[in-house]
Amino acid sequence: MFLIVAISLFGLFIIVLYVLSPLIAPKPFKLEGSHVMVTGGSSGIGQAIAVEAVKAGANVSLLARNQAKLTAAKADVEKYVKNKDTQKVQCISVDLSRDFSEVERTVKEAEQNLGPVQMLINCVGTSISGVFEEIPLTEFKRMLDINYMGSVHATRAVVPSMKSQQHGRIVFVSSQAGQLGLFGYTAYSASKFALRGLAEALHMELKPHNIYVSLAFPPDTDTPGFAEEQISKPEETRLISETAGLFKPDVVARSILSDALLGRFLCYIGVDGYMLTSLTCGMSPVISITEATQQVVTMGLFRIISLFYLDSFDRVVRKCKEKREQNKSKSS
Ligand SMILES: NC(=O)c1ccc[n+]([C@@H]2O[C@H](COP(=O)([O-])OP(=O)(O)OC[C@H]3O[C@@H](n4cnc5c(N)ncnc54)[C@H](OP(=O)(O)O)[C@@H]3O)[C@@H](O)[C@H]2O)c1
Ligand SMILES: *[C@@H]1O[C@H](CO)[C@@H](O)[C@H](O)[C@H]1NC(C)=O
Ligand SMILES: *[C@@H]1O[C@H](CO)[C@@H](O)[C@H](O)[C@H]1NC(C)=O
Repeated sequence: MFLIVAISLFGLFIIVLYVLSPLIAPKPFKLEGSHVMVTGGSSGIGQAIAVEAVKAGANVSLLARNQAKLTAAKADVEKYVKNKDTQKVQCISVDLSRDFSEVERTVKEAEQNLGPVQMLINCVGTSISGVFEEIPLTEFKRMLDINYMGSVHATRAVVPSMKSQQHGRIVFVSSQAGQLGLFGYTAYSASKFALRGLAEALHMELKPHNIYVSLAFPPDTDTPGFAEEQISKPEETRLISETAGLFKPDVVARSILSDALLGRFLCYIGVDGYMLTSLTCGMSPVISITEATQQVVTMGLFRIISLFYLDSFDRVVRKCKEKREQNKSKSS
């Protein structure tokens, strides 16, 4: 008897939550007529996001260091403009990792031309892989300077004006390596995990101002940055990450952008991404009861599956170690 009452009360509770669900969802963001700023917008995922934004009618600013790459990216992005008379694409060269006052000046300059930034996509980033003791110590700091501080600087430069508009979206592009630590990623993963702490805390601060923060976890994506990283990747890292496949930048870009428009906090791509994101949702914010229910229901099962993944990763690492030792004894 008690059980039946308890179950029906729980059912009622879920139904009430579903009815209230639209109330907790943020109002969808409109790209048309907005100023979207993309850091790291001259290449790869950032450039692909810029393309999607102009297709939807936004004005876009691209920020990165290399002027030649920026100019080429601007020309490419402009091809997708919906309305040639009203839409503008601009690019500005700046090193986001160093001096905040320089970043602030750059953002002001961008806002003079296209109005206050309503959406910031922090796509600036770089990666390095290697065995812990072989990665130069300077690289650990460089990862934090670019991947973490680069995002802090740009965000700091736009938040005051977003707050005065009481309107905005901010996206941090982390990585699946920001959800779990893998062989070879001691320096990179740490910088991507750092973005999570930043994003969760900032989300809670900005939500009452109608500014929503999103955190995206792209899988391996076919970009110039990815190609460069391949050259020096340890065999273990390559074999382990290969299991998740290689995604196209436009697919990744569309997924990140549409999640950000909805105001969703955790943005994943692909089946492995879905599993990892449910598994590591922690105390992160949700925008719908459906999202929360899925996490609750799947978490136990995904944990079991993850144990099989971990075991296969361990086996890869062990096999590579054996091969290395054989190589060494052969060559000596
Ligand atoms: N590709 C993947 O497999 C993958 C997977 C997961 C996560 N991600 C993340 O997604 C983001 C984009 O990756 P991607 O593969 O598209 O990278 P990418 O092709 O290497 O592009 C990186 C962009 O960041 C800019 N940038 C780098 N350092 C900068 C600095 N100090 N100041 C200003 N701009 C800087 C680069 O331009 P300049 O060099 O000219 O400055 C370029 O526009 C990164 O945060 C990356 O960690 C990528
Ligand atoms: C783009 O910016 C220009 C210059 O500020 C403005 O006149 C125009 O309305 C904007 N267009 C869109 C689509 O936001
Ligand atoms: C062992 O040597 C072979 C051929 O010299 C090389 O292709 C392979 O990558 C090496 N394995 C490891 C784990 O270093």
